[in-house]
Amino acid sequence: MNNLPKIALGAWAWGNDGTFGGDLTADSLRPVFDKAMECGLNLWDTAYAYGMGTSEKVLAGFLKGRAREGYFVSDKFTPQCANGRETAMADMIEMQLELMELDRFDVYWIHNVWNAPHWTEELAKYYEGRDNVPMLGVSNHNLAEIKEANEILKAHGLKLSAVQNHYSLINRSSEESGILDYCKENGIIFFSYMVLEQGALSGKYDTFHPMPASSDRAATYNPVLGKLEVLNAALKKLADKYGVGTAQIPVAWAIAKGTLPIIGVTKVSHVEDAAKAASVTLTDEEVSELERIADSLGINAIRFWEKEMK
Ligand SMILES: NC(=O)c1ccc[n+]([C@@H]2O[C@H](COP(=O)([O-])OP(=O)(O)OC[C@H]3O[C@@H](n4cnc5c(N)ncnc54)[C@H](OP(=O)(O)O)[C@@H]3O)[C@@H](O)[C@H]2O)c1
Repeated sequence: MNNLPKIALGAWAWGNDGTFGGDLTADSLRPVFDKAMECGLNLWDTAYAYGMGTSEKVLAGFLKGRAREGYFVSDKFTPQCANGRETAMADMIEMQLELMELDRFDVYWIHNVWNAPHWTEELAKYYEGRDNVPMLGVSNHNLAEIKEANEILKAHGLKLSAVQNHYSLINRSSEESGILDYCKENGIIFFSYMVLEQGALSGKYDTFHPMPASSDRAATYNPVLGKLEVLNAALKKLADKYGVGTAQIPVAWAIAKGTLPIIGVTKVSHVEDAAKAASVTLTDEEVSELERIADSLGINAIRFWEKEMK
């Protein structure tokens, strides 16, 4: 599948599960979806875990009636959401397809490493010999776990096509641990999630304008907003040079690193910004300088569901 856009859009916040704060509705999100499709941003990342089907249902409502070849759906098997039956993998995939009124996914992921070899095996058994096999991927896996998943899939005549990990200026452990290189060498697309650190690298938040109180992201980022102001100032300087907004620069950085960023969008302006980010090409010096500044801050951006990708 080589016609994917340069940027995917993420619908975690659409699940309204308390991570982001605020209350999104299908009515408020409809213009966001429409603008994205108008801009050619037609690759949507979701999961059943994002509000227990809420994000998928909202997305499905928007996709309804559109030509199937006009969009891509990236969905996930979250081990913690599986029922306890022997048919848990088939049950989950088929329940999600029904929920989304689809006959296939374009990308399908094992969401995390909880009992992952077992679930990857189940995934392989489910898709072996079928038509319409999606690109198969693993998320939140370290290098050894990624290689293991690839071997499991290969044994069933399938292949690992995608990896999805947290990757941003303040969390480059997927690069340092060799995952990015392994993906490049093996024709695997690396999807970077949380490139904007849930808005903390968008220039919108600082010590005077913290994230919405009582949201999960506020607990993580509000204590380090002072440090992040240094990085956001460097991002703004580049944004001014390229005539874009601060939030476009981390996205352009992720593209410059050869990855496919997934940007969480809840407003029309987020989509417009994401579309513009694809046209910014940072120089090698600019990439290095941003990384030098980010590294000097010494921020640990690993979240509660993640681990360091050693
Ligand atoms: N596989 C996994 O385990 C995993 C984990 C995390 C995420 N993901 C995927 O990756 C996607 C992206 O992650 P995320 O949504 O958590 O974080 P993100 O993309 O780093 O941040 C998204 C947030 O940043 C703000 N934002 C976005 N564009 C902006 C712009 N142009 N200007 C200013 N602010 C902007 C918005 O929040 P405000 O406007 O409210 O500030 C938005 O909700 C998710 O939706 C999901 O699909 C996957």
